[in-house]
Amino acid sequence: MALDIVIMAAGKGTRMKSALPKVLHKLAGRSLLQHVLQTAAGLGADGIVVNTGHGADKVEAAVTAPNMQFVRQMPQLGTGHAVQQAVPALHAQGTTLILNGDVPLITPATVHALIEACHGKQLALLTIELDDPSGYGRIVRGDPAGRDATEGGRVHGIVEHKDATPAERSIHEIYSGVMAAPTAALKRWLAALKNDNSQGEYYLTDVVAMAVAEGVHVVTTQPASDTEVLGVNSPVQLAELERRYQRTQAEALMEAGVRLADPARFDLRGELVCGHDVDIDVNCVFEGRVELGDGVRIGANCVIRNAVIHAGAAILPFTHMDGDALGVSVGAGALVGPFARLRPGATLGDEVHIGNFVEVKNSTLAKGAKANHLAYLGDTTVGERVNYGAGSITANYDGANKHRTVIGADVHVGSNCVLVAPVTIGAGATVGAGSTISKDVPPGQLSVARARQVSLSGWTRPVKKK
Ligand code: UD1
Ligand code: CA
Repeated sequence: MALDIVIMAAGKGTRMKSALPKVLHKLAGRSLLQHVLQTAAGLGADGIVVNTGHGADKVEAAVTAPNMQFVRQMPQLGTGHAVQQAVPALHAQGTTLILNGDVPLITPATVHALIEACHGKQLALLTIELDDPSGYGRIVRGDPAGRDATEGGRVHGIVEHKDATPAERSIHEIYSGVMAAPTAALKRWLAALKNDNSQGEYYLTDVVAMAVAEGVHVVTTQPASDTEVLGVNSPVQLAELERRYQRTQAEALMEAGVRLADPARFDLRGELVCGHDVDIDVNCVFEGRVELGDGVRIGANCVIRNAVIHAGAAILPFTHMDGDALGVSVGAGALVGPFARLRPGATLGDEVHIGNFVEVKNSTLAKGAKANHLAYLGDTTVGERVNYGAGSITANYDGANKHRTVIGADVHVGSNCVLVAPVTIGAGATVGAGSTISKDVPPGQLSVARARQVSLSGWTRPVKKK
């Protein structure tokens, strides 16, 4: 049986007060719409239709999923009108699932249950009881003739808050905005929608009364948690959902044995894979894909993106790692930070030490190499056990092109040196402090490239004139 999915994402999102279309605002590093698409993509649908309207160009450029097409809704005349635009893209038979682009945290399990309840025959609504149902469409149950708005009994309609009587407004069961309908019937109902209501809109929710009139059963299912059906309309709601999502992720990690100093001060915007006995202190942000090996410790206030950190490494507070496309790799037992910066292509071997205010970019450091203070290593290959002195810099950029620096094993680079690339320092060499090295240094020798020190005897300091 064919499964079609329609995701409504054409609305304006006025209350976000933002130039960015609402569905492109990010939750845990991914747009709201991308969250919904990810869930939709996992359902194995035969087709996914996304309604775009406000900011359509931006929305269409920003998201992607297999089997997906965009259908523009211009102007936006209501949720029923939105789904009408998708009709030509739907199969003739089967089930159509309707999702909201601004309700990001619905789970596959909940959607599966809804599709099962529909079974290509019944109209299935995802509903939930809310303490404060104001603003939502209410599920009206009971005798349609009496329209007595009592809870319990068969569903005979959804009434929008703005159109509801005081008795209907006292109903706490609300429509979440998610439904699964028999596709052929849905097409028929959509064609018959009218906009004679308080908002002058074509309400998708009016199909419920049409189903009842045709004798089609209307059934309801409920999500496991209200978090799944909460929509984002304002920055406050976005932040609220972000915290709920982060809490869920933090709990899953802790269940797996990860020790978070404070789950309320933890942010994962992507995927975090952890070994045993991983400790993460407060205020850390993980982005993209990050792997932490057994016994890794992450100090407070670190931001880590696209990195692999091997067993036993310690990342001290305020370290920033951004692997971007090339990745960052930290070897087993390495010590990084505090205040270190690892950029794309930083590849640290086992037991490497990178200290405060050291920046490493597109460089490989072999086992046991150390750069402990205030230094820059860019486009450099560093051998085992090298000691790279405080304040030393690789001048890798000549203003037009980047060049490599090669530092052999057991080299000692003194403090405050400049290594002007391309240049090679032979194994076991020593570079004297303060040297500017622009020619290769032979292995095992001391090279010094700085002005000789002079001392003047009998020199007197100037004195201030009266
Ligand atoms: C809708 C439901 C209401 C339900 C609530 C749940 C209707 C008539 N009402 O109300 O019963 O309780 O959702 O959140 O369906 N959209 C379009 N095109 C349009 C209008 C809306 O694509 O012309 C999209 C919006 O971008 C949004 C979704 O549809 O993603 C829902 O629209 P919204 O205006 O938020 O619906 P509500 O009035 O809140
Ligand atoms: Ca509306």
